[in-house]
Amino acid sequence: MKKLYIKTYGCQMNVYDSARMADLLAPLGYAPVEAPDDADMVILNTCHIREKATEKVYSELGQLRVLKAARAEAGSPMLLAVAGCVAQAEGKEIIRRQPAVDVVVGPQSYHRLPEMIAKVAREARVELETDFPAEDKFDHLPEEHAPRGPAAFLTVQEGCDKFCTFCVVPYTRGAEFSRPVEQIAGEARRLLDSGTREITLLGQNVNAYHGEGPDGSRWSLAKLIRHLARVTGVERLRYTTSHPLDMSDDLIAAHREVEELMPFLHLPVQSGSDRLLRAMNRGHTRDDYLRIVERIRTSRPDIALSSDFIVGFPGETDTDFEATLELVRTVDFAQAFSFKYSARPGTPASAAPGQVAEDVKSERLQILQTLLIEQTRAFNRDCTDRVFPVLFEKPGRKQDQAVGRSPYLQPVHVDGAARLMGEIHPVRIAAVLPNSLRGVLADETAPRRERAFAT
Ligand code: 5AD
Ligand code: SF4
Repeated sequence: MKKLYIKTYGCQMNVYDSARMADLLAPLGYAPVEAPDDADMVILNTCHIREKATEKVYSELGQLRVLKAARAEAGSPMLLAVAGCVAQAEGKEIIRRQPAVDVVVGPQSYHRLPEMIAKVAREARVELETDFPAEDKFDHLPEEHAPRGPAAFLTVQEGCDKFCTFCVVPYTRGAEFSRPVEQIAGEARRLLDSGTREITLLGQNVNAYHGEGPDGSRWSLAKLIRHLARVTGVERLRYTTSHPLDMSDDLIAAHREVEELMPFLHLPVQSGSDRLLRAMNRGHTRDDYLRIVERIRTSRPDIALSSDFIVGFPGETDTDFEATLELVRTVDFAQAFSFKYSARPGTPASAAPGQVAEDVKSERLQILQTLLIEQTRAFNRDCTDRVFPVLFEKPGRKQDQAVGRSPYLQPVHVDGAARLMGEIHPVRIAAVLPNSLRGVLADETAPRRERAFAT
């Protein structure tokens, strides 16, 4: 057996891709390991979304070069590959900056890893593949090799046609592409057969999903969700990440009608200023977003909302930033991610006038995060004493403890729950910790899927 170490940066789609790369390499005799030290192959599955993420890759590569040299000296060579969005965006530049790299492969080309590895071994040269091949990567991936666990990701859509002016995704992941319904349902069934209970449907723009249905027509994400809930026996469904413009009526209705769809929605807004939303090319106003939120809450009153924010986008004034704070106060999020704007090469905003000073960005980020954290704490506090169905996903730090997720994605620690790994069980929320909840096992007769309102 050869040892494979994959380090994953960035988004959930990279987590999914890393698992698929392990599937691809399993028939070649590679088994996953937890550390690079004695690995025969190391893959960095990289993220290009912000400058910091990219720079991390180069510093990690610097360390791996030393390891690789030591391994070569000891007579046990190590292959070094860079995959993901940095590979796509930087291509040859990676090899120039770090000659120890053997393979550079983009996110739409990694199904070619086996042949690339064979070529490196045979011809002792660097292999680079960052084309957007016409053939479909998903048609070339083998079936899942290892079980994915109680909660699994399933990519249904890739790429983005929205071209927000700050974002590299349309350039690294390419144009929007949706997998056919039957292919997705097949993968979902196999995941469920191997013990998965919850599936998160992934896409950079997942609610723009428009894959081919079994009837030959284009299906929406809502139709896909209803189908999966009906035909696969999945117990919990989620989807991420969505764009406000694609929050269609049928998707909003699915939140009310599909019991398996969890009451949690990640809906990035980025800014609360109409001027900036326009400059970002988001295609909607602040009011549009608030109206969408209202429609979602009318459909599913107990839904928890999450979002992404960027502070310090070029031209952002104090007034613009205040509008973002105002939107946050109005919506009241259960959870959120916020970032300082990072200029990405090749994106329109990187060359825009009015780049904001670093100290201003830091100050705004701190103010925004303080407000968002307050809202998350308040949301968590309100969960005290409620009973949630929790899906137990992994062992806790303490003996006989297990950690699971509530319908709202909150991590919940429960003592005496180790035997319930992989199961959904009612849990009463007993305490709110800084980044998680503590619960106690509740009566089995409590509802497996809580609803805060009558349907
Ligand atoms: N700078 C900062 N944040 C960014 N994001 C995307 N591009 C940038 C950038 N250039 C954020 C957005 C997006 C999330 C995944 O990352 O908020 O929703
Ligand atoms: Fe990037 Fe905008 Fe597409 Fe999201 S919708 S991936 S932020 S371009």
